Amino acid sequence: MNTHSDLSKKHTERIEFSSESLDKVREIIAQYPEGKQKSAVIAILHLAQKERSWLSIETMNYVAEILNIKPIEVYEVATFYTMFHIDPVGKNVLEVCRTGPCMLVGSDEIISYIENKLGIKVGETTSDGLFTLKTVECMGACGYGPMLQCKGKNYEHLTKDAVDTLLEHFKNEAK
Ligand code: FES
Repeated sequence: MNTHSDLSKKHTERIEFSSESLDKVREIIAQYPEGKQKSAVIAILHLAQKERSWLSIETMNYVAEILNIKPIEVYEVATFYTMFHIDPVGKNVLEVCRTGPCMLVGSDEIISYIENKLGIKVGETTSDGLFTLKTVECMGACGYGPMLQCKGKNYEHLTKDAVDTLLEHFKNEAK
């Protein structure tokens, strides 16, 4: 879970939806009954995050304006779900599951290995902007741990060798 204290940092980047994205926003809102537009907040935050990979306070305020709800109602959602990034992130966000079943098969070791390998701690981004490391709760692949997700794809039964291969793959992809 993100923490509310993260929100106290000064973020001054705001997105503006393109007219095409605004059409999509209207389409999403229209799926809910009149007066229940708040229910669209998660879908709209996903759209907003796609624009710049993360959600600044200004962007969350913009989403609140669009939905005609209080900014705090947007912050509550964005800070609760780890899939939303309230700080700038790297090109590849490595989300390692830290829940019980994955922990029992070595997720802690994998997390430490990635930290040492990349020279960052959980929640940090490498100086080249290539990787952000996050820990998250169960992603529904409990029988395949330790696992991580990156760009919507699952990487399962992780070993140190598999992590090496994966990081190399992302580095090559960025060249
Ligand atoms: Fe890790 Fe469920 S506990 S995916």
